[in-house]
Amino acid sequence: MRKGLPSGTSFVVSFARGLGVDDQVLDPVARDLLPSWLGRMADAPRHLGGAAALYRKAMRATTFGLIDHAVLRTRAIDTHLASALQSGIDQVVILGAGLDARAWRLPGLGMTTVFEVDHPATQQYKQRRIGGRTPRAEVRYVAVDFEKERFSEGLERAGFRSADASMWIWEGVAMYLRRDAIRDTLEQLTRLSAAGSELAMTYRVPGMLPFGALGRAAIPALFKAAGEPLKGTLEPHDLVSTVTPEWDVVYDDDARGWQKLTGSLADPARSFLGERLAVARRSSQTD
Ligand SMILES: C[S@@+](CC[C@H](N)C(=O)[O-])C[C@H]1O[C@@H](n2cnc3c(N)ncnc32)[C@H](O)[C@@H]1O
Repeated sequence: MRKGLPSGTSFVVSFARGLGVDDQVLDPVARDLLPSWLGRMADAPRHLGGAAALYRKAMRATTFGLIDHAVLRTRAIDTHLASALQSGIDQVVILGAGLDARAWRLPGLGMTTVFEVDHPATQQYKQRRIGGRTPRAEVRYVAVDFEKERFSEGLERAGFRSADASMWIWEGVAMYLRRDAIRDTLEQLTRLSAAGSELAMTYRVPGMLPFGALGRAAIPALFKAAGEPLKGTLEPHDLVSTVTPEWDVVYDDDARGWQKLTGSLADPARSFLGERLAVARRSSQTD
């Protein structure tokens, strides 16, 4: 993260959701959260009439499938969240929330409290941009740098109830953290998770960067230059050993599986198959 500046990668994925892959835009709130020039680009299809489809197609192609990938990722997590809410979970923690607009765009949140935990610079920006827009859930903010501070105390101060089941969403964040910070975050959230809690987290597997040697050199350099270097990778079996025995991994798949799960019109992009979504359920055994 660049000192004092909001996360640039949070803008990119919000842009993707705001543009979407068809007129059923996944995230209509994005255009108001993004810097205005980027918000206008995300919103352009609404003003382009017959040229909207061509504009989207060009954006999807020139970003090497990033738009499709981000749409599939968010829709897959939305699907798991919807079933967690149906099972009676009424508190959701979004770790590294960025410009996540679930609390403003998703139906069915009812009496849910959404805790947004994020780096202070990104969170302050988001709070400014969201202004007085009414959320569909009660939203509480906890500012924290995952690599320097613990979030558990702040979360409890904000009213999080560790005796009750919760849904944890950790979307597109672990890859920017060192392995020890990933492990520490998982340990903290495990301590706060009652039986029946759910965790949806994405992670990057090692050695899956696209475009051969060029990609292996250029992609990490690009993220580094943007102030958000790629750090943590996990093998699926590492993930299991990191989150168990307290959690049962009930889902672990890449964008091809997210597409089947959601029936989305977005295409899984080969370039991003190195990111997986794992969903785990806190087992009833006690510590
Ligand atoms: C790619 S964005 C994802 C945002 C959001 N989860 C989404 O999918 O829209 C990465 C997020 O991780 C957060 N982040 C990165 N490093 C962090 C750190 N050390 N502490 C707290 N948050 C961090 C950024 O502020 C940003 O919101």
